Amino acid sequence: NLFNMEGQQENAEDELILSSLPREMGWAIPDLYLFQQFWCPSILIKEVNIFQKQFQAKDSDIFVASFPKSGTTWLKAITFAIVNRQCFSSIHNHPLLTSNPHQLVPAVEFMYRGDIHCPTTEPRVFGTHTPFPSLPNSIIESKCKIIYICRNPFDIFVSAWTFFDKIKLEPLSTLKIEEAFEKYCNGIIEFGPWWSHMQGYWKESLAKPNKVLFLKYEDLKEDVNFQVKKIADFLGFPFTQEEENNEVIESIIKLCSFEKMKNSEVNKSGIIYQFLEKKYFFRKGETRDWVNYFSPSMTEKLCKIMEEKFGGSGLSF
Ligand code: A3P
Repeated sequence: NLFNMEGQQENAEDELILSSLPREMGWAIPDLYLFQQFWCPSILIKEVNIFQKQFQAKDSDIFVASFPKSGTTWLKAITFAIVNRQCFSSIHNHPLLTSNPHQLVPAVEFMYRGDIHCPTTEPRVFGTHTPFPSLPNSIIESKCKIIYICRNPFDIFVSAWTFFDKIKLEPLSTLKIEEAFEKYCNGIIEFGPWWSHMQGYWKESLAKPNKVLFLKYEDLKEDVNFQVKKIADFLGFPFTQEEENNEVIESIIKLCSFEKMKNSEVNKSGIIYQFLEKKYFFRKGETRDWVNYFSPSMTEKLCKIMEEKFGGSGLSF
């Protein structure tokens, strides 16, 4: 394990750096540290550091970037299916039927944790929750592409509150919805604040539209066919007329659909990243489920924060 190879001296230095950072209790991970202006889970600080210092991007690499609970799993599946469609022409023996999308498209922050490995075929497709300003230079400087999936912050809150409770580590106990909401409004959540995470990628997508494609979960739900074509064009893997006639797009959409993935044997049990139950990545897969959880005062407060944080940026929900 790459991360256990550092000497004791380095461990002591790490401890010293950590002890100087602001610390808060996470939703699933006991300690979050305010590291490079985002709330980084303690267990990933070393990984993020090594990723920043050592990762060498290739021009053909593809990054699926997201704030947690924004639709990462879905976009990983779609991206993997698009770029590998020549290798797996039969939908019946597709790797997505025998592996979870997080195993096929590893999160860089988790890549060296034993059960997840660096892709060996090109284009390599990676996932990341690291905010844009903290990405390694080689990603910025190479010709690799980034697809960011964003989601309505109301729905992210509900998805995160339900998910993190199921996967939380000792000694955390269940957060009441009011407690979680308070933290959320202050940006305190794994990889938060969510508004700066979204803004970082949003701004870059406006500045470099050929480098960063900014997608919304809601748009994928509304017209997945159009979005799949857009992703394929952006990545330089456009569908041919023949593929369109043969309904290749439709079969990718079906393979990656919520029902198909949730009910697939491979996603019903087992863990990934050594502690995350695969089945918890598939809950409802709907938009606007937040209406079942938010009180009028919560709604008012979050609307106000979004106005404050996103007003004038062109980013709206
Ligand atoms: P809900 O909790 O609202 O159901 P992430 O993959 O970033 O962790 O996001 C998880 C959210 O995406 C969950 O939302 C989950 O149900 C939903 N999701 C997972 N797979 C999906 C799919 N194939 N299609 C649509 N939504 C999906």
